[in-house]
This record gives sequence, C-alpha cells and structure tokens, in this order.
Amino acid sequence: MESLLRMSNISKTYPGVKALDQVQLAIKPGEVHALIGENGAGKSTLMKILVGVENPDEGAEIHFAGEKIRLSKPIEATLKGISMIYQDLSLFPNLSVAENICIGTESAAKGYARVKWKPMKARAEKALAELGLKVDVSLPLEKLSIAKQQLVAIARSLVFDSKLIVMDEPTSSLSSGEVEQLYKIIEDLRNRGISIIYISHKLKELFAVADRFTVLRDGKFVGSYDKEDMDEDKLIALMVGREVDVINREENAGGEEVLRVEGLSKKGNFKDISFSLRAGEIVGITGLVGAGRTELAQALFGLNKPDSGQIYVAGKKVNIRTSSDAVKHKMAYIPESRQTQGLFLRQSITDNISVTVFGKMLNKFKLIDRSKEQKLASEYIQILDVRPPIAGMNAGQLSGGNQQKVVIAKWLSTEPRILIIDEPTNGIDIGAKTEIHKLLRRLTNKGIGIIVISSELPEVLAVSDRILVMRRGRISGEIAASEATQEMIMNLAVLGTKAGGSK
Ligand SMILES: Nc1ncnc2c1ncn2[C@@H]1O[C@H](COP(=O)(O)OP(=O)(O)OP(=O)(O)O)[C@@H](O)[C@H]1O
Ligand SMILES: [Mg+2]
Repeated sequence: MESLLRMSNISKTYPGVKALDQVQLAIKPGEVHALIGENGAGKSTLMKILVGVENPDEGAEIHFAGEKIRLSKPIEATLKGISMIYQDLSLFPNLSVAENICIGTESAAKGYARVKWKPMKARAEKALAELGLKVDVSLPLEKLSIAKQQLVAIARSLVFDSKLIVMDEPTSSLSSGEVEQLYKIIEDLRNRGISIIYISHKLKELFAVADRFTVLRDGKFVGSYDKEDMDEDKLIALMVGREVDVINREENAGGEEVLRVEGLSKKGNFKDISFSLRAGEIVGITGLVGAGRTELAQALFGLNKPDSGQIYVAGKKVNIRTSSDAVKHKMAYIPESRQTQGLFLRQSITDNISVTVFGKMLNKFKLIDRSKEQKLASEYIQILDVRPPIAGMNAGQLSGGNQQKVVIAKWLSTEPRILIIDEPTNGIDIGAKTEIHKLLRRLTNKGIGIIVISSELPEVLAVSDRILVMRRGRISGEIAASEATQEMIMNLAVLGTKAGGSK
C-alpha cells in the first residue's frame, strides 16, 4: 500500500548530541503505528521535525499524502492534515474549549473579522460529540480534566480533517478507565481511515492498539515490524539491544517504624487514614485515579493541610506544616508531574542534582566545591543511567524520561529516611524502569522507608512489601505483597473488598 507519510534520511544534530541519525519512517493510511525506543532514543525529536517544531539536518525528505513537504511551524502541519497531541497538550488553558478546537479555522476568525461564536461553538460541539463527549464549550479549557483536554485536542484534529494524528505518551496522566476510552477513540479514528503515530513506554498498551511498530535506538532506525511478527520480548530486545532482567523481589519485614499516620483526614481528599512504615520497607499505595493517593502524599509532605489526624516520625509526634518541615524530618517527596515541578531547565544536570544539598557542597571557605558537586552528579548519573551522561548538559536538553531521572536523583541526594515517590516510572522506558525498581530496593537496604504510589499494578506488585489500596479517600484494604494478586487489588480499588462477587 502507498504510504501516507514517508520520512527518510532524517538526522538531527544538537551541539554534542546526534539525536537522530538517518532515520526513516513510513506510515500507511489508517494504521496505528507505534514509535518506540528507550528514553532519549529520538522519538519526540522525530515527531517535532515532522510537525515543524524542529528543523532537520541537510538531506531530510518528508513526503505526505503524495506531496513533498517541509514544515516550519505546527499550524502549517495542522492545515496540511497532521496534528500532534503533546504530553503537555500545549493548548491554551484559559481560552474556551470552542476556541481551542477551532483556532486557525475560518469559523474562529476570518482576517480582521470578529470571532464568530455561533458557528464556532456548533463546530466544536459537533466534533466533541463525534468523540462521545458533551461539555459546555464556552468553559475555559483548564476547567476540564486532563483526559477531556486530550479529547479536545483530538476534536481539534477532526475539525481540521487530519489524516495523521501523533500522540506522544497520551496516557501518562490517564486512569485505566480513561485509557480504555482513548483506545475506543483510536479504534474509531482508524476506522475512518485516519493514521495514528502512538508513542508510549507501556508495551501492553502498544500491543493493544498498534498495527505496526517502528523501533529507534540511540537515534538510529532499527526497523519497522508488523504486529503479527512481534512479541513483547522481541520488542524489548530490539529497543534495548541487550537483555533486561526482572527484579527478584525479596520480602522485607522492615526494621523500626519510621513513619506512622493516625486518623488523617482532609475533607474531599481522604478520610481516616492510618498506617505505618518501617525502615527498609516499601509500602505501595494504589487505587484508581482520584482515590486520594496524591493528596495523601502531599499531606504527609506538608503541601496539603489535613483537617485532623496525627503524623509520627521515628515514634515522635510531628507537626508538618510546610515542605521544609518535612525535609527537616528527613522526608523527600518526588511528585508525579516531575517535568513541571522539579527542574531548572536552563541549568546543568549537576546544578539540578546538587541544589537540594547545597549546604553540603561548600568547602571550608564556604565556596562551592565543584569537584564534590561533580562527584555527586556523576554518581547519580551512573546509578540512574541518565543519557547522555554529560553532567554539564542543561536539563532542558534531555529527553522527557531522562529529565525525570534527574528529578529523582535530586531528591535521592538528600539521603532521606522516608521517601515518598509518586508514579516512579511514569514516562520511563522499560530498561530504566527495572533499574529504578532495583534502585528503590537498594535504598531500603540503607534503611530508608519508601512509599510508592503507583497506578500500575505490575509495578506495585514488583516493588512493594505491603500494599495499601485506596478507594474514595479511604484505605479499603492492606495486603502483603506475597499474597497479593492484580485481581485482589482491583477488587479493593473498585468494590472495596478483596474478593469479587456481588456488584
Ligand atoms: N534542545 C536540545 N538540545 C540538545 N539535545 C537535545 C535537545 N532536545 C533533545 N535533545 C537530545 O536528543 C535526544 C533525543 O531526545 P528525544 O526527546 O527525542 O527522546 P525520546 O525518544 O522522546 O525520549 P523519551 O522517551 O525520554 O521522551 C536525547 O539525547 C536528548 O538529550
Ligand atoms: Mg519524548
């Protein structure tokens, strides 16, 4: 079949980094094509070149719908029929839903003419209805959940009659129900003959939605494969180019209690939460999105004031009102949305890692000891396998997944006694994922107590010693990891009991 999109000889050189080296990509009409590779493999860069956000090196050729194209900004791509849905969405949060969908179309504005509200609203409503979403399109976009904002972005591509939609890690902020909904929509788009390029690190997802796979490794094209000829192990081997081992979980009963929570409540967030955490233990907290997990974590770390209840650190009652109180009690909190909450993008990896332990980086003259700083940075670059391993590189020049590793490094360098980590491997590739799981294990050997919040059940099962399941703000059950099954956890999360049965 004739390709809808053919990119060939695509290279991209950044100072000191060859992000892409003669990569090719061919997309057929009406197929869902997964673009995969480890963190930093070049996936996002290739897509940015496609939609005109980045310029390729000499020699690149892009053919789309039978025409040779070279785009220089995203709106040109949109008008040609290529839309990109970024992880951070890049729509306009304070404009209305209708405007977000229609900006750039004739009904939004015609030259100097004023915005024509009525046709614009009608058009936006129609596109959303096609996706099964009914919302008030005059609301500002930011009032919608992330999942709905994503549908708005997809509706926009329908309005522009897109033939190709690029989705870069679309499910990283979605609950499992929302993921299912997105799959249905993808299926529907495919049935209409629209092609989709789908980027994700979640292999299960890829096998559920994709017809074909293209693998990139270290900026190079490895190959394109039909789903029939592919399985998870093969795919991982192609991506990583080496064997990935699975961690062997050794159970850990834990030592002394490092944290205890009694009857912690916050109206509308969580209710009557009591549990304890021991040194050397990993407690997993899971549940559906919206169950109150993140709010609880924030409360522990002084970012969300509870209405009632007590927190004890190492047996002593503490009053944690701000995050610096929490840090004084040797707590660290690694939030879910790490890119936006964690990094100075214009500063080096070293600076980002050492900023939290600034005081320890001074020499006897109270000046920054650069060699100490570098040693710290290279240690964590190595532990977390940050790529490229160049300590002086700006954090903003790293790929999404590698930026996350730097945020994790930054908090680990504070040597906390209690570590709370929210969705530890969101956006992190499969090889590095296992490394992070192992790392968490190793940290427990140093006597750190860890709370891992995760929606990914295999992850919760792989890393935790004990699992707390939250449902509608309460702990609906606690299971020892050795006895836990995915089904048990799902039942607790959805129904509130371990066994399935009556709904
Ligand atoms: N502005 C930039 N300056 C320098 N290097 C960059 C820049 N943007 C990206 N890179 C480098 O290009 C390479 C590819 O990055 P890219 O973001 O395309 O990876 P990716 O495959 O999308 O990874 P991830 O899965 O982590 O999102 C990385 O080594 C990255 O550090
Ligand atoms: Mg990326």
